Amino acid sequence: MSTLAKSANIFWHECPVGKLERQKLLKQKGCVVWITGLSGAGKSTLACSVGRELHNRGNLAYILDGDNLRHGLNKDLGFKPEDRAENIRRVGEVAKLFAEAGLICIACLISPYRRDRDACRALLPDESFIEVFLNMPLEVCEQRDAKGLYKLAREGKIKGFTGIDDPYEPPLNCEMEIQQNDGICPTPSAMAGQVISYLEEKGFLQ
Ligand code: PPS
Repeated sequence: MSTLAKSANIFWHECPVGKLERQKLLKQKGCVVWITGLSGAGKSTLACSVGRELHNRGNLAYILDGDNLRHGLNKDLGFKPEDRAENIRRVGEVAKLFAEAGLICIACLISPYRRDRDACRALLPDESFIEVFLNMPLEVCEQRDAKGLYKLAREGKIKGFTGIDDPYEPPLNCEMEIQQNDGICPTPSAMAGQVISYLEEKGFLQ
């Protein structure tokens, strides 16, 4: 990379330790596993299961959970489309840094708009953005309603709730789609197994 300015008066500094050297050290290739789906689909549960399994097999992983990030990095953002877009943009940039650092970064956010997810994908080198669509039907998520938010949304006490009065745009070309089988949801560990097999097949884990 040259030292040409990317913006006015801003310069890029090259670090002496490269990505390949970090890969060798960590015995893994950094990437982003981006879990998208409705509220209550089980994104955080899946992320935790993948994170635990990776740790157990000796891989360094870190979870970026939408809910958690809204307590800090993104606490100034709400749920209007432009706020969600900024939320996803920031998390995409952070995820990119984690992947460059060599970690398996697991991001779990509703990320309802295709354009925002695609913009995150475009930040990462080919194949290292792995979009996992946790495709649980709205009825199932609403039935679970672990946080009571669907009820509030149906009562009109929360406006712009995804799936109720704000859209969820399913991925058109994701790397992995997880859904129910004959009305039965796979267990978190079975779902995590699928994700980890994918990472192994693609050479992210050694
Ligand atoms: S987004 O759409 O990607 O910016 O959302 P995210 O950062 O993942 O945050 C989703 C969690 O915020 C809670 N919540 C809402 N979700 C959707 N729509 C509205 N209006 C809303 N208001 C609050 C909800 O608990 C989401 O958590 P999950 O884990 O997805 O259920």
